[in-house]
Amino acid sequence: MSTKHGKYKGHRFHGDPKRFEVVAEFVFETFKRNIKYIADIAGGRGMLTRILNKQYNYESIVIDPRGYTLVGVPNLNEEFSSENAPYYDLVIGLHPDEATRQVAKSALVTNTLLIPCCNFWDRSKKLGRDALIKEISKYYDEHNVKCKKVVLDFEGPKNIGLVSWKSKNSG
Ligand SMILES: C[S@@+](CC[C@H](N)C(=O)[O-])C[C@H]1O[C@@H](n2cnc3c(N)ncnc32)[C@H](O)[C@@H]1O
Repeated sequence: MSTKHGKYKGHRFHGDPKRFEVVAEFVFETFKRNIKYIADIAGGRGMLTRILNKQYNYESIVIDPRGYTLVGVPNLNEEFSSENAPYYDLVIGLHPDEATRQVAKSALVTNTLLIPCCNFWDRSKKLGRDALIKEISKYYDEHNVKCKKVVLDFEGPKNIGLVSWKSKNSG
């Protein structure tokens, strides 16, 4: 059965709130100290960024036009454009909704972690979770982006992502 809401450190979230810790740990295990500046695209309230900064000493910022981050979480209240991706060592899209394509486009120039939520990729098709991951992988392949599918340890089905590495030719 799927959890619709959950509490984490006194705050209520849609879906499994364990995702923030799991994703932060995955980032650290994958990139260690080889990265510093992170963009948490569509970061919502900013719990992921808070953990990345406080527990792992990264410099993460939420970019989300909704502008309702928790107190003390660095944020830019604007829509994300992949044009700004080169400023970051890692672009994360954890359930990034309308920003999904801009996160995927970021993979052409920097490291990314994209955990899509619903089909904001191609509105002309009905794409379930697996088909959506397949379409984004195909896009990466077409652009010579090296990526790996990852299953993260929080409640599914929205716990599958693609981690990608900046290519040597992407500047
Ligand atoms: C499903 S919520 C996910 C929030 C958070 N990542 C989490 O896991 O709780 C989707 C978020 O996408 C944001 N969003 C929508 N369009 C965006 C865009 N173009 N650029 C950045 N964020 C966007 C919304 O404001 C919303 O906060």
